[in-house]
Amino acid sequence: MRLKNKTAIVTGAASGIGAATAQLFRREGARVVATDLKGVPADGAADGWLGLAQDVRDAAQWQAVFEQALQRFGHVDILVNSAGINGASAGTGRQDPEHLALEEWRVIQAVNVEGTMLGCQAAIAHMKAAGGAIVNVASYAGTVGSPTAVAYGATKAAIVQYTKSVALHCGRAGQAIRCNVVTPGPIRTPLYVPLTGSGTPTHIPLQRIGEPGEVAAAILFLASDAASYVTGTALPVDGGLSTT
Ligand SMILES: NC(=O)c1ccc[n+]([C@@H]2O[C@H](COP(=O)([O-])OP(=O)(O)OC[C@H]3O[C@@H](n4cnc5c(N)ncnc54)[C@H](O)[C@@H]3O)[C@@H](O)[C@H]2O)c1
Repeated sequence: MRLKNKTAIVTGAASGIGAATAQLFRREGARVVATDLKGVPADGAADGWLGLAQDVRDAAQWQAVFEQALQRFGHVDILVNSAGINGASAGTGRQDPEHLALEEWRVIQAVNVEGTMLGCQAAIAHMKAAGGAIVNVASYAGTVGSPTAVAYGATKAAIVQYTKSVALHCGRAGQAIRCNVVTPGPIRTPLYVPLTGSGTPTHIPLQRIGEPGEVAAAILFLASDAASYVTGTALPVDGGLSTT
């Protein structure tokens, strides 16, 4: 019960890493506000779960999500910004530096970077009195050159840098808000699978792709009081890929 008495908002919670995180947080005792563009079903009779539709690009919707969370649970202690797209789902075209369409760049920026920025801004406003923890989700693709995913890689690099700025700002303002980011390698979710073929990924030191629950476990650590002295950190969850 590492999140007992905490309330967490998790975006992108209808699928993949966000879904695994929301479920793990619930098992660890948190009250969870699970949001997604396509909505998240309310968990029937279970108290402590609120599923909402939210487009992270929309500042007014962020306000509404926090207000509903406060109305239902009284406080918000944790925000996980997991909503994201890699461009394939936007379906607008190739993503190498030569052929990338400006519209594709903008769509990916809006969800990944602006969505994360708006979430952090809303979280700071609501957490600054009592403190809290924000965990952003970037990617290994943002830490190296990504010539076939150039827009995606740029957004993920931006999220890492932005996370550090939020951490510094909050720390220096004495707000007791920690802000960290995970940088996953390839993880078995709908976002990753369509981009790749099958076979053993021998370029990954652990010789396999990761599971959403393995990223959720790292997010749990950063969101929990076990990480009370950790802020501004980018934590790779990548089977060792970033060491190669
Ligand atoms: N799967 C991987 O290999 C991998 C690796 C590194 C980082 N990531 C990152 O992890 C995060 C989660 O990705 P995933 O792999 O679980 O993908 P996923 O596609 O399974 O889940 C992403 C979720 O975000 C939601 N979403 C998309 N646009 C949204 C919007 N505008 N507002 C609200 N929700 C929106 C989608 O509906 C979806 O349910 C993303 O930020 C992704 O970039 C994934």
